[in-house]
Amino acid sequence: MIITDSYSRIFKTLRVSLTNTCNLACTYCVNENADYKQVSKFENQILKTENLLEIIIKLHKILQFKTIRLTGGEPTLYKNIVPLIQQLSSLDVKIKLTTNGFLLKNLIDKLNINELDSINVSLDAMDEDIFFRISKRRSLYKILEGIEAAKSKNIHVKLNAVILKNINSSQILPLLEYSFSKNISIRFLELMKMGHIKDGNFDNFFSQKDILKVIKSKYEFKKILREDAATANYWQTKSGNTFGIIANESEPFCADCNRLRLDSSGNIFGCLSSNTPLDISQIYENDYLLEEKLNLAMAQKQVLKFTGSNLSMLEIGG
Ligand code: 5AD
Repeated sequence: MIITDSYSRIFKTLRVSLTNTCNLACTYCVNENADYKQVSKFENQILKTENLLEIIIKLHKILQFKTIRLTGGEPTLYKNIVPLIQQLSSLDVKIKLTTNGFLLKNLIDKLNINELDSINVSLDAMDEDIFFRISKRRSLYKILEGIEAAKSKNIHVKLNAVILKNINSSQILPLLEYSFSKNISIRFLELMKMGHIKDGNFDNFFSQKDILKVIKSKYEFKKILREDAATANYWQTKSGNTFGIIANESEPFCADCNRLRLDSSGNIFGCLSSNTPLDISQIYENDYLLEEKLNLAMAQKQVLKFTGSNLSMLEIGG
């Protein structure tokens, strides 16, 4: 079964959102003025882990993923994450995790570390008060402990920092210094029009150009060639440290996007801009019907530009 489109895009990365809840309440995901119960825009039964696993294995059989990334919401809140990773590790595919790091130390202690290829930790500030302003949580040290725990077990760690003008743009250099000192690669993210900010306030947008300007005030750097299907642009400083920027607004990377999203209810999405979940939980055993849904997911992909989604990263999966 070949699922492709006229731009020769294929699905090679599966991002599985294990839960649409999170233990942080970052401003770009959660609208502080809204009733929290309104967050979920579509209701669906959460699958049993064995069914979720069956779906992942079936999709992998058809599409031969290179990478399966576990995300959320916050994936470490998923009760069966340890056995799930264990089962997935028998597939011939890289297993990666995107987490806010809060419960990471706990997870690392329980995990057979050979089963996980790498971990992306979201970290938007090194300053406790600024971190609180974005995430509404304290205890930044817990995230740093999680990063240390992963590093001490030789798991590859990358940092993600969403940059918001006048909120944490002052944190670009401290975050960069932290990542350089720990020899961890960092990517700064432009804010994306998702969920409650899709049609609302985008005043805090801080562009790739703005980010580079801040870094230039302290470092000299040159651009590194972009790999196919990469989400980030990368630069290298004179002393050999690298950093990246995910510029979804000012330099979209849709043209060779290879991602398919699956949530824990069995919905697939072909694009972060999509508002339409495609439910495969009841039909995934039927190749004909599954092919039809995968083609619909492929057709959801944007070509030129990320157009935004009414769903937040919590709902569509990070
Ligand atoms: N814009 C940019 N990044 C976002 N993330 C979540 N919502 C947004 C948004 N609207 C980030 C998270 C995490 C990654 C998966 O996406 O902070 O690092």
